[in-house]
Amino acid sequence: MTAKQARADLAYFGGRPVFAEELRVGTPNVPARDRYLKLVGEAIDRRWLSNRGPLVRDFESLASRRTLRAHNTATNNATTALQVAAKACGMRGEIIMPSFTFVATAHAMSWIGLTPVFCDVDPDTGTLDPVSVAKALSPRTGGILGVHIWGNLCDTVALDDVARGAGVPLLFDAAQAFGCRPLAPSPSGTTEVFSFHATKIVNCFEGGLVATDDTEVAARVRALHNFGFDEATEVAGPGTNAKMNESSAAMGIASVECMDDTLRVYRELHARYREGLSGVPGVAQMPDPPGQTHNHQYVVLRVDPARAGLDRDRLAAVLDAENIRTKKYFWPACHRMRPYRTDPVHTPVDLSATEQLSARVLALPTGLSVSPQDVDQICDVISAAVRYA
Ligand SMILES: Cc1ncc(COP(=O)(O)O)c(C=O)c1O
Repeated sequence: MTAKQARADLAYFGGRPVFAEELRVGTPNVPARDRYLKLVGEAIDRRWLSNRGPLVRDFESLASRRTLRAHNTATNNATTALQVAAKACGMRGEIIMPSFTFVATAHAMSWIGLTPVFCDVDPDTGTLDPVSVAKALSPRTGGILGVHIWGNLCDTVALDDVARGAGVPLLFDAAQAFGCRPLAPSPSGTTEVFSFHATKIVNCFEGGLVATDDTEVAARVRALHNFGFDEATEVAGPGTNAKMNESSAAMGIASVECMDDTLRVYRELHARYREGLSGVPGVAQMPDPPGQTHNHQYVVLRVDPARAGLDRDRLAAVLDAENIRTKKYFWPACHRMRPYRTDPVHTPVDLSATEQLSARVLALPTGLSVSPQDVDQICDVISAAVRYA
């Protein structure tokens, strides 16, 4: 390993980049290429390419072992799955959600005529703060949408209490949380939406899943995602086309079959980063939340500029010069984005934890295309950046 021993060794100051090729956050995992090609070849031979073919049904069954929910419906992505699930749960009017999330959470709701109302998050987990949610409730509230950000599960029990007290439906955006499960039982009737976008730990090229323990919600999801056709193949009401296709399901099956190996790699890289950065002042990995299993899909740093001597943006620039492409997940927060920043209806409560997290967090490359030695090099750059800040 070429260590950055002097300030001038950093590419930011003219040294040679540590990586000749870019290292990115979210490079797609393709753990079982041959298995995918075999499955997709069989689908082509069957001439059954969409409309709940055998591969979609197999994928749903394999996925159900990870979601641990009774009913699982695969979709073409998580954005449409969120819309279908919101309608199936009876959401209406204003939807309380975190601003600290990928913008798809907010857009999915606003695209179907619902109004995102942003609340603050827990500063350590980045998940929706139930106290902030309670403050934002109003007679116009028609649903609560929690986000299991970075795979950190929301306080589902507290949010369920708030939702039941207000008499509104509760839904979870679990796009980043496939493989993350609570150790305690979930509140009854929980509904969650997962993403299998190419950048996710398990991918279907593009894909999503609505997983629910509520039988009635499940039946509505099945109909809504397929033009409104019910089990009797009659059109029960308006619907959309959010169906997963067979090629996506083949990729999903191939990925989920070797998910335990994938999870092990992510876990080991996560631990290696934690160890590699343990002595670096002002730069720390976000804590692992207790009470759940984790997919460690994201390695997220929180940079304290007063202690590190440089801020998150400067650290990102130093890493960028070394061909280490990081992501400011999530900056800007949704309430700072153009569609949501002017109308005060979106921001009734204080969002200071969101503002602070959004200014300080940085996601680092991880996944099947990142080696333990890559992690050592990245940690070396980060500690040099702080040393010479
Ligand atoms: C929190 C969150 N919600 C929703 C989505 C949208 O997922 P998809 O790309 O499958 O539509 C993503 C995707 O990255 C996400 O991270």
